[in-house]
Amino acid sequence: MEAAVNYDVVSIDEFDALCRYCYAPRVSSLQATNASWLFITVAKEHANKVTRQLGVKNGLVYLPGKGVSQWEDSDMGPPFRQRRFFYYMSGANFPGCAVTYDIGADNLTLWIPYTPPSLILWFGTTPTPEECLDKSDLDNVKYIADLPNYLNSTVGEVCSLYVLRAEQIPKSLSLGLLKPTIKIDTSSLMPAMAEARVVKSDYEVAMIRRANDISSAAHRAVCAGLRQYANECEAEAAFVRACVAENAHMQSYPIIAGAGPNAATLHYDANDQPIAGRQHLVLDAGAEWACYASDVTRTLPVGGRFTAEGRAVHDVVARMQDECIAMIAPGTGFRDMHLHAHRVATQGLLELGILRRGDGGDDNVDAATAEEVERVLESGVSSAFFPHGLGHHVGLEVHDVAGKQRLMSTVSPWTVGSGRKNKRDIVLREDLVYMIKSSATAGTTTTTTTTTTTTAALGRPLEPGMVVTVEPGIYFCREYIEAYYLNKPELARYIDTDVLDRYWGVGGVRIEDCILVTEDGYENLTTAPKGEEMLKIINGK
Ligand code: GLY
Ligand code: MN
Ligand code: MN
Repeated sequence: MEAAVNYDVVSIDEFDALCRYCYAPRVSSLQATNASWLFITVAKEHANKVTRQLGVKNGLVYLPGKGVSQWEDSDMGPPFRQRRFFYYMSGANFPGCAVTYDIGADNLTLWIPYTPPSLILWFGTTPTPEECLDKSDLDNVKYIADLPNYLNSTVGEVCSLYVLRAEQIPKSLSLGLLKPTIKIDTSSLMPAMAEARVVKSDYEVAMIRRANDISSAAHRAVCAGLRQYANECEAEAAFVRACVAENAHMQSYPIIAGAGPNAATLHYDANDQPIAGRQHLVLDAGAEWACYASDVTRTLPVGGRFTAEGRAVHDVVARMQDECIAMIAPGTGFRDMHLHAHRVATQGLLELGILRRGDGGDDNVDAATAEEVERVLESGVSSAFFPHGLGHHVGLEVHDVAGKQRLMSTVSPWTVGSGRKNKRDIVLREDLVYMIKSSATAGTTTTTTTTTTTTAALGRPLEPGMVVTVEPGIYFCREYIEAYYLNKPELARYIDTDVLDRYWGVGGVRIEDCILVTEDGYENLTTAPKGEEMLKIINGK
């Protein structure tokens, strides 16, 4: 059996069968040489995984990498961002490449550009085939000028050419030369690759862990500086500074640093407002490392102390997160976790008096009975305050591909965007009510305990090697709550507007960690401070 690999260590030992050559991309902050020459040492492992998903013994997979691009009417362009499906099977993070995998011959070949001295003058060089081979587990590395010949000779020998989509059929392929028996398959590769990406390889977990370590340290740095900041932009700047100082130059998504009411905008990113007099700063920020994402949110009390209302809401969200994380193990249904988060939110909001029993229960009693919680939960009114999904896969995309079955529902589009939909689709009260009803019909246990069962029909059970976020939140977005809840008598009766008026200033609270599913439970990859530790750092203790 293969020993666990520490991907932070470069190890070369040709004589030890247990020892693998591990090239650590951007090993430690200050040792990196050329930051764009990244290779993953498991490209071949990934190619084999994709082939198992394809379920074929023959054929050629072809994936083009990204070229350089420019903005309209400009000679400048966005920072280079490699295509993720290409990267997964090649590990090459520079422009102008392609990769082929001859399934029958088990041959993974990277095709790279030759960089002439005139371009080296401006942009620096790219690695030679020897350098690429040296740093990767690829079988071959060749110059891309030879690719058309290879394709035209090899595709004739195999029965299928697999591409992600029709636009990626290689233009250099002389379609007229193809034998009638050859099939160009534009539909099988995407689902096979998306499914392969759902359960992470050890290498991928190591990269996601590193991204989380950098983000966690950067969140710590923001906590330490918080009381000096006058504007949201200073929190963003401090976070970026901490990441770049670790050689993590890319963020996984635009940083959200929203104070006061801005904390109630889920994907706020203006980050330009004063924070004085606000209760909270929601900081949702995650560095990228070697193309792998992290996704971390903390809600910081501006000034170092929570208000009574802010603390109460923060406590409810912390309980939603703690209890959902505790549920994580192979076989747990993510949808059950989502419903559990709503149950905790409903109970918490009832006990704060923001939610009312609605039909005869006594709202002056602090503790809500399990029956009262269930009845209010069934109305779906908690979706006014917790209007997004509990989480999503994290990997080469921050909202990573979901594979054949999404975490919370039965259907999964194969596209990269499916991870995003996974989080954003299920936001409406109707969705929540549907989930509650269908879980009950399927016999899913819906009690206040943290042990639940699920069926495959209700979303995808967790598996070891998945990395998912758990990111409950409670938000007070006035426009949203007024439009879709307070303006509807059948829902407004569950909300006490006098109490709610005291909470608008809380803005929003979200807490988000990246969790690895393990064989016997979970590991929290995010170590950003929370709870009392977070408060101590903010207050310089
Ligand atoms: N940062 C985006 C999200 O939490 O999904
Ligand atoms: Mn997230
Ligand atoms: Mn996030």
